[in-house]
Amino acid sequence: MKKQDINRAYMLSLIAVLGPSRELGLRNGLLWHISEDLRHFKALTLGHTVIMGRRTYESLGKPLPGRNNIVISRSGEKLEEVLAAINDQTEVFIIGGAQIYRQTMPMADRLYITHVQAPLPPEGADVFFPPIDPLQWREISRQDFSRGVTFLYPFSFVTYERRQTPSLSATPAATRRN
Ligand SMILES: NC(=O)c1ccc[n+]([C@@H]2O[C@H](COP(=O)([O-])OP(=O)(O)OC[C@H]3O[C@@H](n4cnc5c(N)ncnc54)[C@H](OP(=O)(O)O)[C@@H]3O)[C@@H](O)[C@H]2O)c1
Repeated sequence: MKKQDINRAYMLSLIAVLGPSRELGLRNGLLWHISEDLRHFKALTLGHTVIMGRRTYESLGKPLPGRNNIVISRSGEKLEEVLAAINDQTEVFIIGGAQIYRQTMPMADRLYITHVQAPLPPEGADVFFPPIDPLQWREISRQDFSRGVTFLYPFSFVTYERRQTPSLSATPAATRRN
């Protein structure tokens, strides 16, 4: 799906926690549990629409409270139709998983990434986030932590915005910044 395929007036943001090789999860579960990251995720997404793939929804087990939850499945509405139908939001969050990140990254405006500098669990990972091309994305904010209260490894909250290019500048995302 290309950015210009959908005419929308809201900012589309992807939010994810990634390991050093962009690993996202294993066997339909997360790799790490960082309480600071859960709070960060909640603070950003509360009151907003969150869109997720069917597998991520199953891994959560229930809708996220205080948010309008949309679950994407090929037996339900199409992703493109869901994105095109939203018309009353300023920012919409894609919360995973790998399949949904891959399809929405080309049209996203913003990425909220928690980069985790932790060794991969021995079982490895089976889903990965797409590469973040520095020619397309610029870092606009960063908070570094040497460790969490219970999490023993460094992690960073990093926000990226899409760099404006001539082909993208025509897209009418109302909240886009340069
Ligand atoms: N680290 C993080 O921040 C993070 C965040 C979220 C999830 N995760 C992890 O990611 C993994 C899950 O990711 P995943 O890639 O396996 O699955 P997913 O993206 O959560 O869901 C995939 C499902 O979404 C539906 N789907 C995909 N593309 C679609 C389209 N174009 N239109 C309609 N439906 C579509 C299909 O559902 P149907 O099969 O029903 O058709 C597909 O099986 C888990 O390990 C989870 O823990 C990590």
